[in-house]
Amino acid sequence: MHDSKNLEIPGNLTIVSGEGGLPKVVIQTLSSTAEIYLHGAHITRFQKNGEEPLLFMSAASEFAETRPIRGGVPIIFPWFGGRDGFPAHGFARTTAWELTETGLLPDGAVKLHFQLPRAEGLEVGFTVIVADYLSMELRVSNTTDQEATFETCLHTYFQISAIDAISITGLSGAFYQDKITNATATETSDALSIRSEVDRIYSDRSTAVEIEDPGFNRKIRIAKSGSNSTVVWNPWIDKSIRMPDFGDTEYLQMVCVESGNVAADKVILPPGRHAVLMVEVSSGKWPS
Ligand code: BG6
Repeated sequence: MHDSKNLEIPGNLTIVSGEGGLPKVVIQTLSSTAEIYLHGAHITRFQKNGEEPLLFMSAASEFAETRPIRGGVPIIFPWFGGRDGFPAHGFARTTAWELTETGLLPDGAVKLHFQLPRAEGLEVGFTVIVADYLSMELRVSNTTDQEATFETCLHTYFQISAIDAISITGLSGAFYQDKITNATATETSDALSIRSEVDRIYSDRSTAVEIEDPGFNRKIRIAKSGSNSTVVWNPWIDKSIRMPDFGDTEYLQMVCVESGNVAADKVILPPGRHAVLMVEVSSGKWPS
């Protein structure tokens, strides 16, 4: 953790020993609280005052140096999904990131910057702003003299009142690949509801997506830039049972709406250039 204790901000930011003894940054602002593990630069909590937590965390999550955390916002880099002989979804989520900068902004928001120490010749930084919204920016700079190809994804798990109560808007007309059947199709639904396992990569889509949750009287907005893919995932019953670090019925309380550049949208970055993926998650009363 080198001397990241110096980065504490009295009253707003402390570094403590979290689950499994892993270092955790605890952030308090006038409007919200958040927690971020250095392991994976993994945001495990964001909660606005007076609202339910925005991020889902599995009660069965492991907290260990070699294992990804289940829930919150895993950072998926440099590949998405499986890769023979390598960890699924890349190594960023199982690497201890370095906290390099913290600051209190004039409006009372807290800003943090993390750096990934091991990134195959690329420079990878993650900047988070905790306010009454949550802003996340993943910046990859190609400091090598060769073209770099990689995938990125902020794999956000949202806490919802009930899976059969919510609908997801903003994907109508988008082309997608169904990872369960391998079929491809165009989304026809203006308000997507989930009644079975869903695992879809929507491609060539850079616009915001919203989750309407009447049970929590809440609408969550996922706005993004530098992202052409949106992944929607809920494991439903059988896959939940198969996953060792996920409760058998937790699929009822979560949905992943992930923003990034995966599969056909992978990033091809010339030497000396950088790619910035930015996601801003906000929430409000719904219906207002
Ligand atoms: C999603 C994938 O992004 O992540 C799913 O589309 C996968 O196929 C899910 O099951 C969880 O992955 P993991 O590696 O965290 O279990």
